[in-house]
Amino acid sequence: MSIAEPVKKETAAATGSLTVKDNRDGKSYELPIARGAITAADLHKIPGEDIGLLNYDPGFMATAAVKSAITYIDGDKGILRYRGYPIEELAEKCSFLEVAYLLLNGELPSDQQLATWADEVTHHTFVHENIKEFMHGFRHDAHPMGMLMSTVAALSTFYPEAKRIADEKPRRTQIVRLIAKMPTIAAFAYRHSRGLPYVYPDNDLAYTANFLNMLWKTTELKYEPDPILAHALDVLFILHADHEQNCSTSTVRVVGSSRSDPYSAVAAGVGALYGPLHGGANEQVLRMLEDIGSVDRIPEYVARVKKGEFRLMGFGHRVYKNYDPRARIIKKVADQVFTVTGRNPLLDIAIELEKIALNDDYFVSHKLYPNVDFYSGIIYQAMGFPVEMFTVLFAIGRTPGWLAQWEEGLLDADQKIARPRQIYTGKGERHIAE
Ligand code: ACO
Repeated sequence: MSIAEPVKKETAAATGSLTVKDNRDGKSYELPIARGAITAADLHKIPGEDIGLLNYDPGFMATAAVKSAITYIDGDKGILRYRGYPIEELAEKCSFLEVAYLLLNGELPSDQQLATWADEVTHHTFVHENIKEFMHGFRHDAHPMGMLMSTVAALSTFYPEAKRIADEKPRRTQIVRLIAKMPTIAAFAYRHSRGLPYVYPDNDLAYTANFLNMLWKTTELKYEPDPILAHALDVLFILHADHEQNCSTSTVRVVGSSRSDPYSAVAAGVGALYGPLHGGANEQVLRMLEDIGSVDRIPEYVARVKKGEFRLMGFGHRVYKNYDPRARIIKKVADQVFTVTGRNPLLDIAIELEKIALNDDYFVSHKLYPNVDFYSGIIYQAMGFPVEMFTVLFAIGRTPGWLAQWEEGLLDADQKIARPRQIYTGKGERHIAE
């Protein structure tokens, strides 16, 4: 199969149409509506200024660039489903690896399929020794997200067959490798920042338990993670596993649209996730709660947010205009974690901040509710993670989603290299003075 050859082709029948009257010349145009959308290509047939009419949509607020069968969100109702399954059920009844399988394959695995899948992932958790050396070269205080992003990109140089993205077998092998190696690289990044020796994977342990082993093992012969903490982190990974066309996933798809290998695409996704308006928000939430410091300072802080001095981190979402269902589940996970670690004092500030914000006109009228990042950092901190690691944990969880979306884009006959248009606002033609 050639790189350009997609495996699926679908055409959606129009379910209605939109008549647009151009008041510049009185002409009317009929734009077919299929799957609840008109196409920009049809709109573009209407004359614009130099070229056909464009729709200007910074941040893609109302532009669907892909069709996807992976994740469904109803932001007004606070619904999130992976492949049709409500996030609440998946978080309660499945492991992260089962959910990863679901995202990638469309169905939950049978017992036999799960055993094979877990075995495959487990046997790819080790990284080449040169990766260890590579990571060793980072400064002692390098941010682990920077280390993760660069190391994931570097993996492409270790697996040149990753370029064969049109062949299912090597494509699937890289997917397994990425899911398997993310925790190893993440743990190495953490150990590096602490000046601790790197700990190799323990293949007797399940996915998340092994991650804890690589993070925290010291002199004991065999590390035995606390099952409550391992389970809690597994649930957090599930909650982060996919979220349809968010900033990092769209980045992965955009890079993938040029037919890059998946390591390069996922490294770009890590870069997008790093930003404080996206995955970096959980780090910012912790810093904000520490900055507030005590419950009595919340009103003053909220007043400054309302004046526009800064944003309340962990609040608001492009899609959810209701409570983020993941935030609700995370609150329950927090209670379980605190039975082991003791209560994080920042929780009191967070709960009070949420209460005040949810009763305040500004937040109510702007439909600003806590998002997934609001409580996750408090749990991570209680578990012993430094704030710099929070977004790295998000990246581990999001990896199956990135890969499922990357592969879906690759196999979608409608997809083309991503190349938005612009509205040029610069100078007209001019010449350099003689
Ligand atoms: N605090 C205060 N005001 C806010 C906040 C906030 N956290 N979020 C949005 N607003 C206000 C804006 O000031 C704006 O007000 P205005 O219309 O009066 O000017 C309005 O709400 C709409 O905001 P936009 O930035 O246009 O909304 P957008 O959909 O582009 O942004 C985003 C969504 C980036 C998540 C935003 O809510 C935000 O910055 N939140 C804080 C960062 C955060 O928690 N990010 C994590 C998101 S979840 C995730 O990525 C995993």
